[in-house]
Amino acid sequence: MSTPSLLILPGDGIGPEVMAEVRKIIDWYGAKRDLAFEVSEDLVGGAAYDKHGTPLHDDTMARAQEVDAVLLGAVGGPKYDELDFSVKPERGLLRLRKEMDLFANLRPAQCFDALSHFSSLKQEVVAGLDIMIVRELTSGVYFGEPRGIFEEGNERVGINTQRYTESEIDRVARSAFELARKRGGKLCSMEKANVMESGILWREVVNRVGQDYPDVELSHMYADAGAMQLTRWPKQFDVIVTDNLFGDLLSDLAAMLTGSLGMLPSASLGAPMGNGRPKALYEPVHGSAPDIAGQGKANPIACILSFAMALRYSFDKGDEAARLERAVEEVLADGLRTADLLGEEGVAPVSTAEMGDAIVAKLEASL
Ligand code: IPM
Ligand code: MG
Repeated sequence: MSTPSLLILPGDGIGPEVMAEVRKIIDWYGAKRDLAFEVSEDLVGGAAYDKHGTPLHDDTMARAQEVDAVLLGAVGGPKYDELDFSVKPERGLLRLRKEMDLFANLRPAQCFDALSHFSSLKQEVVAGLDIMIVRELTSGVYFGEPRGIFEEGNERVGINTQRYTESEIDRVARSAFELARKRGGKLCSMEKANVMESGILWREVVNRVGQDYPDVELSHMYADAGAMQLTRWPKQFDVIVTDNLFGDLLSDLAAMLTGSLGMLPSASLGAPMGNGRPKALYEPVHGSAPDIAGQGKANPIACILSFAMALRYSFDKGDEAARLERAVEEVLADGLRTADLLGEEGVAPVSTAEMGDAIVAKLEASL
């Protein structure tokens, strides 16, 4: 079998420093688990704009289409706030998602025992939380046409279009049912069928797909009520499937239940390629955090756990993914905290690199 290939796009802000820690983990797997990757690295976001005048060079896009998986750090920063919309750092990420057709975005929100007191909610509400949001990522209001700012009479009108085809709903629903089947067997679909036709169609198609998954318990919620239930009693959920925009909002909400955005990975998956692997991009849920960039304060765990998701979903190495997740749990149980996780008495923060090294040490100890 040929060596699997990884394209690393560190991006902006804290992206490069958290990705440097992921490189240590990748190297460890190559050296110690006979799991070598052919790694290449390139620019995305503001970093790509600075060099090429575009947030994603065509050559990088082409490379992303060829590799077995893409790992992305973060994009964006205040330096790019004034740029034209078409070349903003975020456009690079959105182009990757769209052209790779990464329609299923998996965003787990898991509460680590050692961190359950960090949540703004009561500990009993979040302790042991383990839910998965499946967000549709390539359609809906993010990409629907018409869109733009137009003249209308003597004023302007801003337009975006929520648009979903049956097949777009069908495929993301199937991904969510498959996941639910492997997890707790429950799926909750969220839309606004009470006010949106696209929501009515969404619910209808999800119900239809559900007939192929009689073993999964399916429920529906309006997305606003879903937001409320997520904060009231999040443990009622197992897998949630929802559209692009609601998924953007609900996944930030779910992420914060766990106490820190610095902990949460994501996987964006498309259709299987010739080798059976899905097209895939893995990235932390957190952003580029320009305020702390370059200071060694960033938490590398979300990015490291994104690589764990790559091991599981792209390379069929669920046992090695679990090994890495255990290593993360152990360093947290030992009391190691990056600056985003402070607040406990007498705990001094460790740096980004110290956290990465500690996780490598736990991997080593696992052998
Ligand atoms: C996310 C982010 C992106 C989105 C931005 C950076 C374009 O918020 O991945 O959730 O809105 O999808
Ligand atoms: Mg978001």
